[in-house]
Amino acid sequence: MGYDRSDSWTRKAKAAGFPARSVFKLEEIDTRHHVVPAAGVAVDLGCFPGSWSKWLLGRGVRVVGVDLKAPDLPGGHWIVGSVMEVDAAALLEASGGRVDLVVSDLAQNTTGQRLVDHVRQIALADRALSLAIEIGRPGSNFVCKVFDGEDAGAFVDRVRAAYADVKRLKPDATRGNSVEFFVVAKGLRPT
Ligand SMILES: C[S@@+](CC[C@H](N)C(=O)[O-])C[C@H]1O[C@@H](n2cnc3c(N)ncnc32)[C@H](O)[C@@H]1O
Repeated sequence: MGYDRSDSWTRKAKAAGFPARSVFKLEEIDTRHHVVPAAGVAVDLGCFPGSWSKWLLGRGVRVVGVDLKAPDLPGGHWIVGSVMEVDAAALLEASGGRVDLVVSDLAQNTTGQRLVDHVRQIALADRALSLAIEIGRPGSNFVCKVFDGEDAGAFVDRVRAAYADVKRLKPDATRGNSVEFFVVAKGLRPT
């Protein structure tokens, strides 16, 4: 996943005590869109190696994280497994009820085939969205990584159907040639 690449964002993250440069993406998303609750509970899908979770914990947010690997990070509740298999009931039990924020930085290793990577990423994003709808409290927020491509617009439309305010954002810490962007959704509509 390129965690050891010594670009300036990665060096800056390490110097600040975070394992991955991705921390600056969430920080920018929150600075611009205020998605992180002052206190409350967040579910971090694809949480390893733990930069987003560490940053959320530092903001006083209780964190439940899901990944194929557990971060080496105290303070969170880690569920090891695939998001395709973990069910909403397990997340609700671990978080003590409906949550204020669901973030997804889920990504598989890329194949280099743009369409294959795009379609796989949309499948992960759709899974993150359906979990967020099931476990989020009305009014909660959702942040999700997407790889741009043919099906990205339809995914954003599905997010718009569930949330009152939806934006697309490419943070500064995203590599210049990357197709990645984030969907930032606020205000889960009551079902
Ligand atoms: C870009 S990394 C996340 C970085 C993390 N946000 C941070 O700040 O440290 C993407 C993560 O998604 C995880 N992942 C990919 N597919 C997954 C799946 N099906 N279930 C759970 N985690 C998955 C990978 O194991 C990887 O740790």
